Amino acid sequence: MTVLSVNVNKIALLRNSRGRDYPKLLKFVEQLLALGVKGITVHPRPDERHVTRQDVYDISQYLRSRSDVEFNIEGYPSEDFLDLVMAVSPAQCTLVPDQPDQLTSDHGWDVSANASQLTDVLARLRKAGIRSSLFLNASITAVELVPGVDADRIELYTEDYARSFGTAAQDKVIAQYAAAAAKAHELGLGINAGHDLNLENLPEFLKIPHIAEVSIGHALVVESLQQGLAGVITQYLAITGA
Ligand code: PXP
Repeated sequence: MTVLSVNVNKIALLRNSRGRDYPKLLKFVEQLLALGVKGITVHPRPDERHVTRQDVYDISQYLRSRSDVEFNIEGYPSEDFLDLVMAVSPAQCTLVPDQPDQLTSDHGWDVSANASQLTDVLARLRKAGIRSSLFLNASITAVELVPGVDADRIELYTEDYARSFGTAAQDKVIAQYAAAAAKAHELGLGINAGHDLNLENLPEFLKIPHIAEVSIGHALVVESLQQGLAGVITQYLAITGA
């Protein structure tokens, strides 16, 4: 079994675009949990263009009564970010090497170039009892460096896989992911994955053994819109008498 952790950043982005509390993020979280989702992910960025710091506190508070649901906070380990993580103490913190103004995460850590920062931050998370994960490209060399900085898990950055899906390169690319995952498992690391996963490409990806968690946001929102559209339009047409 793989835990589905739904990234709710896009819902917050939709809310923020209108400047008032609609849609309500917590309503979505409530609905997701009622549907059986066991993981919620947020990626607070310094400009709060998606989830805000307040959202992180609110969701964390809401999940306190749900010990069966894992809260994952991902982001660049600035002191502000770490203060927030320490304050809400999520089940997992995923460290991502993104810049404040970056559109979305687009690469994994260079572990050796950032070893001293990562070692320090990962030790602080361990001391606080928060499981840690490092966003990584699908590279055996990168995975081999992870025990040295002492993270609990890796999150495989899956955009390359998603891009290769359905092309001639797919088998070669997924083999790199499988090899990185096998190395991580051999080293005793847990394995998460995320970015650009969707209903089409996920089944093939999950043939890789030992994937503990996938975090999915963008496609899940698009698919919900596309697949929910017919029912909603039917209701509007009925109301307008068309
Ligand atoms: N993992 C990380 C580290 C991310 O930054 C994101 C996007 O915020 C995801 C997973 C989820 O990617 P997507 O929105 O494409 O499903």
